[in-house]
Amino acid sequence: MRKVPVGAVYLAGLAPLGWIVWLVVSGGIGVDPVKEIEHRLGKIALWFLFGGLAITPLRRFLRIDLLRYRRAVGLVAFFYVGLHVLVWLVLDMGMLWAQALGDLVRRPYLILGVAALLLLLPLALTSNTASIRRLGRNWRRLHLLVYPAVALAVVHYLWQMKVVQPQGWLWLAGFGVLMALRAVPRRR
Ligand code: HEM
Repeated sequence: MRKVPVGAVYLAGLAPLGWIVWLVVSGGIGVDPVKEIEHRLGKIALWFLFGGLAITPLRRFLRIDLLRYRRAVGLVAFFYVGLHVLVWLVLDMGMLWAQALGDLVRRPYLILGVAALLLLLPLALTSNTASIRRLGRNWRRLHLLVYPAVALAVVHYLWQMKVVQPQGWLWLAGFGVLMALRAVPRRR
């Protein structure tokens, strides 16, 4: 596993985007392409965010060490969050700021999404070796922001469903498990 270069994670991270592009060009994206693309990108972002959160418990409880891929997984997650927001802003809102603002007021779960994005932004910006060195212990502290960010993203996802579907509860439960595993006390 350790032999897989980190670059492969970035490359694999582009695969879901390639799939979306393929669906668009082949006409298989459905009757409401913008909504479909928006939703798919949001879901992919969530998968990668959860993937990043799973790395520590995988190492601790199953001795699967993927730590060296964590930064790549996090950055890919942020890339998809960015695309998700961009599709909303450009394709859905037509870059009309007043309309975007109106949408935020009309659908408060979007504000939770924005809060999640703002919390993830400093993490993405400091996910480079120079920042990690410069920030030292504060870098670890800063990265605790990932927990409230993912929590907000999960609530954003559940809330936009209006009536929460079983898979929504599964995502919430998954997040609960990932958090609970972190709370398991270490044996001396
Ligand atoms: C960490 C940040 C975010 C994550 C992980 C995320 C994830 C998601 C997910 C998983 C969905 C539902 C997809 C589905 O039902 O299949 C969704 C829907 C949506 N998100 Fe986000 N999102 C985030 C931030 C944002 C932000 C900042 C905006 C824009 C202000 C936004 C706008 C939307 C919109 C417009 C929808 C569709 C809602 C609807 O159809 O009613 N999201 N998001």
